[in-house]
Amino acid sequence: MERPARLCGLWALLLCAAGGRGGGVAAPTETQPPVTNLSVSVENLCTVIWTWDPPEGASPNCTLRYFSHFDNKQDKKIAPETHRSKEVPLNERICLQVGSQCSTNESDNPSILVEKCTPPPEGDPESAVTELQCVWHNLSYMKCTWLPGRNTSPDTNYTLYYWHSSLGKILQCEDIYREGQHIGCSFALTNLKDSSFEQHSVQIVVKDNAGKIRPSFNIVPLTSHVKPDPPHIKRLFFQNGNLYVQWKNPQNFYSRCLSYQVEVNNSQTETNDIFYVEEAKCQNSEFEGNLEGTICFMVPGVLPDTLNTVRIRVRTNKLCYEDDKLWSNWSQAMSIGENTDPTFYITMLLATPVIVAGAIIVLLLYLKRLKIIIFPPIPDPGKIFKEMFGDQNDDTLHWRKYDIYEKQTKEETDSVVLIENLKKASQ
Ligand SMILES: *[C@@H]1O[C@H](CO)[C@@H](O)[C@H](O)[C@H]1NC(C)=O
Ligand SMILES: *[C@@H]1O[C@H](CO)[C@@H](O)[C@H](O)[C@H]1NC(C)=O
Ligand SMILES: *[C@@H]1O[C@H](CO)[C@@H](O)[C@H](O)[C@H]1NC(C)=O
Ligand SMILES: *[C@@H]1O[C@H](CO)[C@@H](O)[C@H](O)[C@H]1NC(C)=O
Ligand SMILES: *[C@@H]1O[C@H](CO)[C@@H](O)[C@H](O)[C@H]1NC(C)=O
Ligand SMILES: *[C@@H]1O[C@H](CO)[C@@H](O)[C@H](O)[C@H]1NC(C)=O
Ligand SMILES: *[C@@H]1O[C@H](CO)[C@@H](O)[C@H](O)[C@H]1NC(C)=O
Repeated sequence: MERPARLCGLWALLLCAAGGRGGGVAAPTETQPPVTNLSVSVENLCTVIWTWDPPEGASPNCTLRYFSHFDNKQDKKIAPETHRSKEVPLNERICLQVGSQCSTNESDNPSILVEKCTPPPEGDPESAVTELQCVWHNLSYMKCTWLPGRNTSPDTNYTLYYWHSSLGKILQCEDIYREGQHIGCSFALTNLKDSSFEQHSVQIVVKDNAGKIRPSFNIVPLTSHVKPDPPHIKRLFFQNGNLYVQWKNPQNFYSRCLSYQVEVNNSQTETNDIFYVEEAKCQNSEFEGNLEGTICFMVPGVLPDTLNTVRIRVRTNKLCYEDDKLWSNWSQAMSIGENTDPTFYITMLLATPVIVAGAIIVLLLYLKRLKIIIFPPIPDPGKIFKEMFGDQNDDTLHWRKYDIYEKQTKEETDSVVLIENLKKASQ
């Protein structure tokens, strides 16, 4: 379709020129001379601006409109302005084609299309960094990472420049660090109260100090690539056999802009349940009022008499953001229920036989003592006499040898002996 348009335009121009001089042939009103002085420039890091001047010798009755599109007829536009701009990652050359016409009707035949391209990127394509990715953390700082290009020396000193409409100028990222294979850099980018803030993008370029590598560009839309901070669980409680979770969302985010994932691990059944929560709300609104600014969710089917560990993560949703791919980190876990710690079981398992054995020993000793009381040993008169009248040769060590039981039996036998002696005396 481009060819006929061009030819037609050229033909019209010739006719126009002929008509202008000779005055014999009437030019078709729908075709116009081409635009002049089309030029391209780059502002910021990758805001590409094309400007042009109106065509020379345009019909005085024509209300000029400009028809333009990028390569492959992308983004067709008909507008009265003599400029067009686009944020483009300048990793490749990009071209704009412009023509003039006399109406906003797309079926109108435009003039010859004039083309202007951005200069091709300089440097070896193999030297450019790869996998340049940026994530906007917590709406407060942006972290970009990349991998070195294939044709680069390992001591390449990278620099990252960034630009955003709120900054007013191009800034350099200060702390470049290595993270395994990746190289990264973080810079502060806080969400301004201005709601138009997020309609803009951040322009990023990674180059090297020495200018040896091909620059890599990235345009990060602020309506995507957002990773929220994890939420904070405030309370877990059972009510009417249901588990309720109350948590606080990360700052900077509206609740309606987040989706949630609630994980409940039960230590007894060893289950791991994950609930996707699009809109967190408990039926019972009384819980909501308890903690200001908290979100509530009722977890169904949780066993109350067991240990349940809960944690939550969040991500942006399609209501407010363009993508919903980046989960926050998990929140800190919180537990509720009885601690059926497995180590407790193990200690119980080991301790039980010991306790039982101890009890048996005590019982046996007690039984032995009982036996002694019930069936006292038959006294040995010779030994008793020896003891009664004191064997002076006996040292005190001998006494110490007696254990408690022997002492006790001795006392008991003594009384028996005394009674026997009394009996003997009375006879
Ligand atoms: C194109 O640019 C040149 C130099 O800037 C200028 O003299 C000329 O008038 C421009 N042409 C039109 C049609 O504006
Ligand atoms: C331009 O407009 C005037 C007045 O409206 C009209 O007389 C004239 O014929 C028009 N010229 C062309 C080329 O259409
Ligand atoms: C555009 O032009 C075509 C043919 O030239 C015509 O049929 C159509 O009605 C026009 N549309 C407008 C909005 O003027
Ligand atoms: C997240 O943003 C809030 C508000 O700007 C800030 O107070 C908080 O420290 C940020 N969190 C982190 C981990 O930087
Ligand atoms: C990078 O910087 C270091 C220290 O400033 C310097 O020694 C090294 O030569 C630089 N590397 C390149 C490739 O310029
Ligand atoms: C998320 O987890 C990673 C890996 O554990 C950690 O490096 C990072 O600091 C965490 N981010 C936040 C916001 O807590
Ligand atoms: C819950 O269980 C899953 C799967 O076994 C595990 O990956 C996760 O770390 C557990 N969560 C907590 C808080 O321990």
